Amino acid sequence: MRRNDDDARTALAQRAAKLRQLINYHNYRYYVLNAPEISDEEYDMLFRELQRIEQEHPELITPDSPTQRAGAPPAEGFAKVRHPAPMLSLSNVTSPEELRAWRDRIFRLLPSDAQLTYTVEPKIDGLTVVLHYENGLFVLGATRGDGFVGEDITANLRTVRSLPLRIPVVDSGRTPPARLVVRGEAYMSKAEFERFRAEHEAEEGRRYVNPRNTAAGALRNLDPAVTASRPLDIWAYQVVLMEGGPNLNSQWEALQFLDDMGFPVTKEYNRLFDDFQALVDFCIAWEQEKDELPFEADGLVIKVNEFVWQDRLGFVGRDPRWAVAYKYPSPEAITRLLDIVVEVGRTGVLTPRAVLEPVHLGGVTISSATLHNADYIEERDIRIGDMVVIRRAGDVIPQVLRPVVELRTGDERVWRMPDKCPVCGGSVVRYPGEVAYYCENVACPAQLVRRVQFFVSRGAMDIAGFGAKLAELFVKEGLIRDVADIYELHKQREKLLSLEGFAEKKVDNLLAAIEASKQQPAPRVLTALGIRFVGSTVAELLLEHFRSIDALAQAEEAEIMQIEGVGPRIAESVVAWFQQPNNRRTWQRLKKAGLQSALPETQEKKPAPLDGKTFVLTGTLPSWSREQATEIIKAHGGRVTGSVSRKTDYLLAGERPGSKLEKARKLGVPVITEADLRAMIGLKNV
Ligand code: IVH
Repeated sequence: MRRNDDDARTALAQRAAKLRQLINYHNYRYYVLNAPEISDEEYDMLFRELQRIEQEHPELITPDSPTQRAGAPPAEGFAKVRHPAPMLSLSNVTSPEELRAWRDRIFRLLPSDAQLTYTVEPKIDGLTVVLHYENGLFVLGATRGDGFVGEDITANLRTVRSLPLRIPVVDSGRTPPARLVVRGEAYMSKAEFERFRAEHEAEEGRRYVNPRNTAAGALRNLDPAVTASRPLDIWAYQVVLMEGGPNLNSQWEALQFLDDMGFPVTKEYNRLFDDFQALVDFCIAWEQEKDELPFEADGLVIKVNEFVWQDRLGFVGRDPRWAVAYKYPSPEAITRLLDIVVEVGRTGVLTPRAVLEPVHLGGVTISSATLHNADYIEERDIRIGDMVVIRRAGDVIPQVLRPVVELRTGDERVWRMPDKCPVCGGSVVRYPGEVAYYCENVACPAQLVRRVQFFVSRGAMDIAGFGAKLAELFVKEGLIRDVADIYELHKQREKLLSLEGFAEKKVDNLLAAIEASKQQPAPRVLTALGIRFVGSTVAELLLEHFRSIDALAQAEEAEIMQIEGVGPRIAESVVAWFQQPNNRRTWQRLKKAGLQSALPETQEKKPAPLDGKTFVLTGTLPSWSREQATEIIKAHGGRVTGSVSRKTDYLLAGERPGSKLEKARKLGVPVITEADLRAMIGLKNV
């Protein structure tokens, strides 16, 4: 019997190893090569099988298991890691002349007949990470820190799906190096950032400024589950240290090697030059291309390719002489700040915006820029009439950086946030602890335009052809005084047809799209209401619990807060929203119009016989394997855990029970047999 047990265990361990290998391979196909070979369903099946084995046999879990990418327990703070070599930074050049001067400088330090080639790689705008592998296994990952000592963010890095947890040895026969330390950059792609931002900003009532900061926040979060929820990626670009691997003679070989070992490498963007003029031309031309990349890059990195010359050149201070960053300055310009106007957002937030004397900047004419908030203006002492420095970084909206104080004439005016809403005259308030000022009038037309915009937007009711322009027009024309009026527009067909540019077909299409939106599921409707902090994910959570918007509207803060993932801020906001008579009226009208207000009825669940009962298994059962027994218990509502405690309801014991039996007896936990369990769930005995 013991032999059989051992055999079964070995077989399971082998299966787990095989599954890990398969999953890692398919991860690599999917995330690194972008060339999956199996469907998502097939992948999920492999993954779930592995999860099941590991759940039942936690001793079989290995640190490189793909199941360990998410959900590791939060760390208490980060441990410090000393880097095996200093993580150098780079000096910058910002023009072709400076780039040539760099080459002239290094040539003075090299033999006159030195033959150099150069690699050119994108300078990825992310966070440096230092990745340690032992015999192909990812064992440690660190931030750059001060260049000598970084922080241990291994658990967070494990959640980055393009990072190999085990180096996939692609062509068989080659074993991974005994020790390998790789430097790379963790980043969030532009597309993932946009998706993440769209989903989270409304919900969390905060702004995510750019991919880099969002990635940084994710990597340095103490809870790996948060990291896992942010779609990060990785590019590898330097072999910091290697033992027991092939001899590498150049950066180009190193990049090739990293690619072979399964690391994501920017290979389609990398170049190798022997002609320096061609390299300079490439750098100049690349400025046009960098914005087209799927990730943010703030320049190029030019490296002397041959390691012999790199070693000869060494470094000065923190910067290697053999590499340099070619950066494109974010274009800046100086212009006059003509005025500061205040815009009103959907939730009534007042945002100051700069009205500028039009100026050319990075190929476009700019006449408006963001000023963020009142504190920003005050801290920088930005005054109306000032000459100000503005900057456009990447695709970000232009910003006012600072005033040019030397150019002041004395006629400049200090600006203050108005105490009345510039649109409706309603009173303006600032809540303690918040930077923002709000217009308190829920009927403020500016807020209404934004609310309508949000209501019809893609993430909410998704009404095709209904954009910002229409929202503004309909509010201005008095066709919409409340979002619920959207569903009465069909009564105003004549008026719509009289508007400029509204032909019959356009009106029909719009009305049809509005009608169709009545089928949108309740969570979208709840999202569309625009309650602060209630974005699509929170809306789903709330409705899963309350089933209908009406039930939610009746709920008290305490009950709302009980939902996992819903905190006091959300609860307070929901209750406050439904307390407003205006909002209640809007909701009643929407419901009457026929919008979905509840989740579809689910079949009433019959109470399962083992609901809430906890089981522990020991020994060999007469007819079921442990896996089967576990499945059966779960299918009938019970839970299976690994060890006996006071909380255990039953010990299911078979032949040759282990020490668990003794423990159960000591604690007075009832011990049952397979036959007892069958009786409990109404199965016939065999
Ligand atoms: S090489 C000694 N290559 O840029 C080697 N760095 O200011 C120095 N970076 O902190 C780094 N892409 O995180 C190198 N292809 C690339 C890079 C790159 C981005 C970052 C790196 C460093 C910063 C230098």
